[in-house]
Amino acid sequence: MSQTYSICLNTQDGKEISFDCAADENLIDAAAQANITLPAVCHEGNCGACHGHCKSGEYEQKSHSSGALSEQDEEHGGILMCRTFPRGDMIVEVTSDLSHITSGPVPEPVCEVLAVDDMGGNVCRLLLKVLPDEQGAINAEFEPGQFMELEIPGTDIRRAYSISNAPNWSGELEFMIRLQPHGKFSSWLLNDAKVGDQLNTKGPEGSFLLHQAGIAPRRFVAGGTGVAPMLSMLRQMAEFQETHESHLYFGLTSEEDLFAIDEIEELKASVANLTAEVCIWKPTATWQGFRGSPVDAFKRDLEADLAKGIKPDVYLCGPPGLIDAAEKVAEELGLPHTSLFSERFLPG
Ligand code: FES
Repeated sequence: MSQTYSICLNTQDGKEISFDCAADENLIDAAAQANITLPAVCHEGNCGACHGHCKSGEYEQKSHSSGALSEQDEEHGGILMCRTFPRGDMIVEVTSDLSHITSGPVPEPVCEVLAVDDMGGNVCRLLLKVLPDEQGAINAEFEPGQFMELEIPGTDIRRAYSISNAPNWSGELEFMIRLQPHGKFSSWLLNDAKVGDQLNTKGPEGSFLLHQAGIAPRRFVAGGTGVAPMLSMLRQMAEFQETHESHLYFGLTSEEDLFAIDEIEELKASVANLTAEVCIWKPTATWQGFRGSPVDAFKRDLEADLAKGIKPDVYLCGPPGLIDAAEKVAEELGLPHTSLFSERFLPG
């Protein structure tokens, strides 16, 4: 029988939760056996959803994608819990609050397609409605920033997408999905999806959430459809009339990629202290907005913020390259890593 070690998770809200893990078991599976559901999607070291930080203890980290966990992060104790096998007792820091670490299985509601719309920029808006379960309950509670796994009808192929609307009582879930040339989910959306279709889903999951404590200004740095969870957060801020001074940096490669501009304009009108900037990396000569990456624009403002003694909470969502670059900027300028919250989007 393999040796068993004690794993203690330190949650974002300063709580602790412990479970045992055998040397031949990964942390996610061991937690599940103890009825603790940690955020995880692929279970293969590819998505980064199970990211944590080892504060003490020995472990072995099996192969994984560098997009999900960079070498630099790994050197600083970053781990993917689905690829981590203990070699001693461990203390692991996770970015979830204790209330987001669910006991028991993640809900798997069946949903109906309400709308499939072209948003421009090769992005599709998929609107779903959760159908009542056997007890007649509609399980569509989520927190802005979380994602759902959606299954292509008639297959067991699932993809994870962030929810872009605000929590609601009508059970509606909105997603903004970039159409990938050979993507299986994209082909279903383009060729087969129609209003009234039913699909299996799983979630909500994930711990990329608004940090509610304090009144620190908020900076949202998004690449492409990485803006979706931020729209959810901002829509909730509008509903709750939150007054944090906030700025959205929305990065796209070219003007042809523009989407969600009307939604952002609406939010600028409804969130008390929100400003927003669309950053085009390869603009045409006529582009009037920011020319460069959202990380460039973020760097310009972070320098000014820190010079004034302002330490914003920073939300990052998009491809791994964007997140690594923004984290590097924050580290170089001296913003503590506890002020950074991120979600990586990997192609799939
Ligand atoms: S669940 Fe661990 S990397 Fe995807």
